[in-house]
Amino acid sequence: MLAESGEEIERATGHRLRVVRALVRDLDKERSFAPPDGVLTTDFADVRDDPSVDVVAEVMGGVTPAGGYVRELLRAGKPVVSANKQLVAREGAELFATASEAGVQLRFEASVCAAIPVVKVLRESLIATNVHRILGIVNGTTNFILSRMERGATYAHALAEAQELGYAEADPTDDVEGVDAAAKMAILATVAFGSRVTPDEVETRGITELTPAHIAAAAELGMVVRLVGIATLEREEVDVRVQPAFVERSHPLAAVDGAFNAVMLQGDAIREITLEGPGAGGIETASAVVADLVSVVGTAGTGFLQNDACWRELRRLDTDAWRSSFYVHLDVADRPGVLAHAASRLAAHEVSVAQLVQRLEDGRASLDLVLHEAPFGRVRGALAEIAAFPEVLDRPFVAPVIA
Ligand SMILES: NC(=O)c1ccc[n+]([C@@H]2O[C@H](COP(=O)([O-])OP(=O)(O)OC[C@H]3O[C@@H](n4cnc5c(N)ncnc54)[C@H](OP(=O)(O)O)[C@@H]3O)[C@@H](O)[C@H]2O)c1
Repeated sequence: MLAESGEEIERATGHRLRVVRALVRDLDKERSFAPPDGVLTTDFADVRDDPSVDVVAEVMGGVTPAGGYVRELLRAGKPVVSANKQLVAREGAELFATASEAGVQLRFEASVCAAIPVVKVLRESLIATNVHRILGIVNGTTNFILSRMERGATYAHALAEAQELGYAEADPTDDVEGVDAAAKMAILATVAFGSRVTPDEVETRGITELTPAHIAAAAELGMVVRLVGIATLEREEVDVRVQPAFVERSHPLAAVDGAFNAVMLQGDAIREITLEGPGAGGIETASAVVADLVSVVGTAGTGFLQNDACWRELRRLDTDAWRSSFYVHLDVADRPGVLAHAASRLAAHEVSVAQLVQRLEDGRASLDLVLHEAPFGRVRGALAEIAAFPEVLDRPFVAPVIA
């Protein structure tokens, strides 16, 4: 991409970007792009100590040794752009401080949703807008799996297909358990709210517990299931979570199909802006890396932004105080009075039911409930009591509803 777009970049910035060095593990590996002789190296010092290197793209992945390398480069006065979400989410505080001390830029657009320019939009275009809520489908693998399940596939089949098509790794844990999405949401919340959120602070649930019955219930209720990141800033308190959510069919996130990503930003002046596009892939990620390289060479020193987006320390919202409408699935024995009993427990916790679908099968009933908006703590309290009924056969399943 740097070679192909060299002229356009030079026209725009007055600089021709040349790859001087590329650090790899294996010099003999067959590569789709053959760099000129002397470019590839396995020695990090060749990159750090080369005075002709003006800016470095870190696209190696992993927290170690990548983090150490980035710190050394920054200290050596070399600006860095990174595609590494785990590194930026986990070690951002230290990395941004190092960059600012050294007076150079550290940019990270490609670390969240690849080609979708969400960091730039949040940091630059929406700087004067109080963005207080972010809804994101930020993991293409899980969105692909859920889209396939919507069309009748089981979780196992959908995962196998995602692996065949290269959307899912051989070990899909980070994607399906929500780890990848949590790192991305931590970065987005940090940038949007100006207060550091780390991945460990993101309440995270993946998609592995979802069954075809949940997907079918969603369809019956006029909804689809998506793995959604939800970041909320309310009265100076922050909440960030990643979990399967029931999304109303008319909602823009319900239309995000297959391996696509979308991020919806809600703020005072803008009301709502949705950015959608390919959130992964080599060339897509490269486009964001190159855009950051261009931004670095186009703005000298630390540019016009502070490296660290954080300027305050917000409290974490108590998770029980987090409000949403909720979907609940209950498997119960088909006995008279179960429904009334469950409804009375919900009412005792001041939670009211908006919709109810009941299905009977072989002496068992399944109840799908949509609850009106309530603090999560009240819903959790009511469900703990309901789960203890002898007629309730399985642990209740609960997910937020996005309308
Ligand atoms: N691919 C995507 O869709 C995507 C999307 C968004 C963000 N990202 C991020 O982009 C980064 C790179 O992903 P990728 O898919 O391009 O990975 P990749 O194909 O594995 O490429 C990593 C490159 O870094 C080199 N490398 C890795 N560890 C090294 C070490 N210890 N010392 C020297 N060189 C090392 C590898 O060298 P060899 O070639 O010799 O093995 C390889 O060239 C990751 O942080 C990833 O999270 C990727």
